[in-house]
Amino acid sequence: MKDQGQVILTSGRSDVAVQVGDCNPLIRDLAPTLKSRNIRGVAFLDPYGAHLEWATLEALAATGTMEVVVNFPVAMAINRLMIKSGDVPERWSDQLDRCFGTDEWRAIAYRRDVDLFGNDITVKNGGAAERLLALYVERLGRLFPFVATPRLIRNTRNAPLYYLLWAGPNGLGRKGADHILKQGERVARKR
Ligand SMILES: C[S@@+](CC[C@H](N)C(=O)[O-])C[C@H]1O[C@@H](n2cnc3c(N)ncnc32)[C@H](O)[C@@H]1O
Repeated sequence: MKDQGQVILTSGRSDVAVQVGDCNPLIRDLAPTLKSRNIRGVAFLDPYGAHLEWATLEALAATGTMEVVVNFPVAMAINRLMIKSGDVPERWSDQLDRCFGTDEWRAIAYRRDVDLFGNDITVKNGGAAERLLALYVERLGRLFPFVATPRLIRNTRNAPLYYLLWAGPNGLGRKGADHILKQGERVARKR
């Protein structure tokens, strides 16, 4: 992956550690150290595309202490990797498998059909973005005990940008997250 940013790890004390590199292995290495009873934390996972790997969310869920806020750019970036012809380059399809933690995205995005000449063809399904979101959120609910209602953030022209998702280990956290994420939707509408 060319575009590799920073992982900023902060603690409640004054010490801050910045690690540069692919956040996926960095977070997976860190996660086992976050299982302590005294630790609570939020991981803000803000990729432009399909760079956040499912195994990274699994590692954070397994801590039992971490909440996650995920920017899930399903319409603008992820759904666009699923090109109309269905001939998704292997590099992209591997990335999508890692992002969703499954290849179920393919059956959601495409169906087999027959054209006017009787040829078997692959057709991209309408409404794929919403169903991909539903797959992702349903799978998040298998990792974390609580998942907030996804909120769609739009740009100034009202076009969908990304969904903000929250998942975490306790119900009170979800209540707060539902309230906060709802404000994001309102801010976007006011612009
Ligand atoms: C949407 S931006 C994040 C913006 C940031 N939250 C802010 O407010 O400035 C996505 C960032 O993720 C970085 N990125 C992409 N893939 C990454 C990866 N595998 N690990 C760490 N960072 C990555 C990109 O370089 C880009 O800077």
